[in-house]
Amino acid sequence: MENQQKVKNLIDLRVQAKLGGGEKRIASQHAKGKFTARERIQRLLDEGSFEELDMFVTHRCYNFGLENEKYLGDGVVIGHGTIDGRSVYVFAQDFTIFGGSLSETMALKICKVMDMAMKMGAPIIGINDSGGARIQEGVTALAGYAEIFERNILASGVIPQISAIFGPCAGGAVYSPALTDFVLMTEQNSYMFVTGPKVVKSVTGEEITTDELGGADVHARKSGVAHFRVADEETGLIKIRELISYLPQNNLEDAPVEECLDPIDRMEDALNEIVPDNPNSPYDMKVVIKGIADNGDFLEVHKDYARNIIVGFARFNGVSTGIVANQPNFLAGILDCDSSRKAARFVRFCDAFNIPILTLVDVPGFLPGSAQEYGGIIIHGAKLMFAFGEATVPKVTVTLRKSYGGAHDVMSSKQLRGDFNYAWPTAEIAVMGAAGAIEVLEGRALSKMTDESTKSAYITEKVDEYKEKFANPYQAASYGYIDDIIEPRNTRFRVIRAFQALQTKKVVNPLKKHSNIPL
Ligand code: HXC
Repeated sequence: MENQQKVKNLIDLRVQAKLGGGEKRIASQHAKGKFTARERIQRLLDEGSFEELDMFVTHRCYNFGLENEKYLGDGVVIGHGTIDGRSVYVFAQDFTIFGGSLSETMALKICKVMDMAMKMGAPIIGINDSGGARIQEGVTALAGYAEIFERNILASGVIPQISAIFGPCAGGAVYSPALTDFVLMTEQNSYMFVTGPKVVKSVTGEEITTDELGGADVHARKSGVAHFRVADEETGLIKIRELISYLPQNNLEDAPVEECLDPIDRMEDALNEIVPDNPNSPYDMKVVIKGIADNGDFLEVHKDYARNIIVGFARFNGVSTGIVANQPNFLAGILDCDSSRKAARFVRFCDAFNIPILTLVDVPGFLPGSAQEYGGIIIHGAKLMFAFGEATVPKVTVTLRKSYGGAHDVMSSKQLRGDFNYAWPTAEIAVMGAAGAIEVLEGRALSKMTDESTKSAYITEKVDEYKEKFANPYQAASYGYIDDIIEPRNTRFRVIRAFQALQTKKVVNPLKKHSNIPL
């Protein structure tokens, strides 16, 4: 072959590779409202930044006639590019080639790009759209998955790992996304489950649709497997770009600092009035978050799961910051099994990646009852306590209203190494709420009272006395557990100043192989 012909041959092969499983299958992918693997990568990365690798890899399977059916690239597109000029590594399964099913060679490609991401200290983003293990290959596909899982595990806490689910993700394949830091699902075409509806029916008799079993709604609201649920792929890819903007490249770097045009001393007058006089009335903690963050921007994570706690990313004076906040608007912001787990995982992510944490507290306590106790609230609450207590990143806590009992300790209290613990004058920091406390303290006296009106007057008097003494931040401040009581409208400024002071913070935990967080 002449050299000119060789070049032409290469160009032809490239065109062929880019067609994946062929035009018919691409059309079928589009008909489902889905992009192809390369279209997804193109939309995810900065224009023209993608460098594809391993385009000429083909499978090595000789079973079931597969030796006669080969496609360049073998079902996954891998490479690197940039998001806002910062390097990221990507793999995207190509459903047009054997349904994106995972072969030995596809696994090798994915592992290659994961290894490169680790070597270069850059985030890895995986786009999943696959029929699972390539059935014709048998055990080599299984081994391939395990190779990927091991890499997910070793990369955890070293580089950010993000998974987008844009199609099927079933069987053991779900465990790679589950091992990553963030999972994003689309409402229409994505699903994740360990066993599909047919197997469920044959084993348990339960009749359930694919969507009911593992659609985006289920995983965003009920299981918590999905951190983000988006309407379509386009929105999802934009969301990933936004998420990346809050993250560092790896655990040895800080997240990028954005120029902040929002005045750091901006007063948010509305906050002076946001806490209702009635302690049982709710208010929306998101108004507080948006009121104090740069430009009111807040990227909420796990928005629909365990809504009694809010977690997500904001910026303060341009610095990426993780926010953990009780939400009085939902279940009074109480801590339960799900909210404890949700917040614990987020705190650990922030700590692993040098992202400071702001904790906004309004928590009446832990949710009582057999359902919670049987569900393991002790162990789940311990997770959150462990996560806060172990974290060495800068930690600023602001108590807005309630901070009762064990939940007070858990929510980044001074004794869990909170660096700056502030309170609003509306804070109530005590062992328990006034009504419950009086029932315990005055039980004997009350049992002797026969006249109901005398009893009620006595309770009112004692409750008032208890509130006067404890339903405020001053007792905690008198012990130095609260560093200062701040005017609510000045919260943004005080928080920014606190984080500025903490820029040089250095705390090292005792050396160990690893901790034993109560899982
Ligand atoms: C090989 C596969 C495949 C697979 C799909 N295809 N899944 N080829 N191995 N696992 C091929 C199809 O033969 C078809 O080829 C093309 O991909 C598109 O598939 P369709 O069925 O036409 O698409 P659709 O109707 O959209 O259905 C998608 C699907 C279905 C729901 C994913 O294909 C399906 O149920 N696949 C099998 C899923 C499965 O059981 N996987 C193994 C799970 S066990 P043509 O040539 O017609 O285009 C597992 C273990 C992992 O994954 C363990 C890890 C630890």
